[in-house]
Amino acid sequence: MKKFLIINGPNLNMLGQREPEVYGSETLDDIKKFTEAKLQGQAALEWFQTNLEGELVNRIQQAHSQHYDALIINPGGYSHTSVAIHDALKILKIPVIEVHLSQVYKREEFRHTLLTAKAATAIMGGLGKQSYYIAIYSQLQ
Ligand code: DQA
Repeated sequence: MKKFLIINGPNLNMLGQREPEVYGSETLDDIKKFTEAKLQGQAALEWFQTNLEGELVNRIQQAHSQHYDALIINPGGYSHTSVAIHDALKILKIPVIEVHLSQVYKREEFRHTLLTAKAATAIMGGLGKQSYYIAIYSQLQ
């Protein structure tokens, strides 16, 4: 069975309370449950969330030797700023799918630069919680 690491960055632990008009009312835990249910046991998922940039870099580095089939990452606000996360993603030899709940190109201009996505294989965004499921599903075949 394929094994995926799903990394979430800052403020995604506040989903449900955070700007519900943008991100909806569901929590990160609700998104996990939805994604697991949709996949019906077809993949092994490991979830990680931190608000700290260095911890994101450390977790991505660890993934390098942990035999995942793909990395799914929502770097949150760091998507727009983090050279360090970009560089860590470049080390990986597996597909990296960057996901966003919101459609960032319809939002403020500072969200239009996706720095980390320059190191990603693909981007999936704007479909809310389905962004995660579709990103993982795309790597199942
Ligand atoms: C986000 C979009 C980012 O601009 C924002 O900072 C987030 C969430 C998304 O999933 O839509 O934290 O990555």
